[in-house]
Amino acid sequence: MILRFAILTVSDRSARGERPDTSGPALKEKVLAQGWEVLQEDIIPDDLLILQDTLIQWADGRRFDVILTTGGTGFAPRDVTPEATQAVVRRSAPGLAEAMRAESLKITPHAMLSRGIAGIRDCTLIINLPGSPKAALENLDVLIHVLPHAVQLLREDAGAENGHRF
Ligand code: MTE
Repeated sequence: MILRFAILTVSDRSARGERPDTSGPALKEKVLAQGWEVLQEDIIPDDLLILQDTLIQWADGRRFDVILTTGGTGFAPRDVTPEATQAVVRRSAPGLAEAMRAESLKITPHAMLSRGIAGIRDCTLIINLPGSPKAALENLDVLIHVLPHAVQLLREDAGAENGHRF
C-alpha cells in the first residue's frame, strides 16, 4: 500500500529564509525510503491562522493520507502548532502522541517539552513532530510501522481487518 504524505515545516526563521529547512527534507527522505509518496511540502511561519488555513486546505483537498508537521510544538510563545492542529481536527488520536513521547523519553528528558498532538480531519491524519531533524526523525520512527494500518482504517480499506495482526 502506498501512503501519500504532505510535509509542513513550521518555523519563523526558515519561512523568512534565515535558516535552511533540514527537518522537512529529512522527513521526506525517510518517507520515500518506505516506498511512500510525498506529494506536497511547504515552509510556513509559526502563525496560528496560516497554520490552520494550510492544514484545512491540505486536508480538505483529500490528496494526502498523512500530514506531518515539524516544529512549533515547544514552550516558546510562538509555538502554536498543537493549537492550530487541535482547532482543525475532528477526532483526536492521542495514542500516537503518547507513544512518541514515551519512546522519546527513553532518549531525552526534553521529550516532555514537546506538546505535539495527532488527530484526524475526515480521512487525513495530522501528526505534529518536533522541529529539529533529529527529534522529528526519532518521533516518526516510533510511528512508522503502524501508519499503514492507520491509513487502511482511514480509507475504510477492505483489507483493514488483516492489519490488526501486527
Ligand atoms: N524528541 C526526541 N525524540 N528527541 C529530541 O531530541 N527534543 C525535544 C522535544 N522532543 C527531542 C524530542 C525538545 S528539546 C523540544 S524543545 C521539544 O521536542 C519541542 O520541539 P519544537 O519546539 O522544535 O517542536
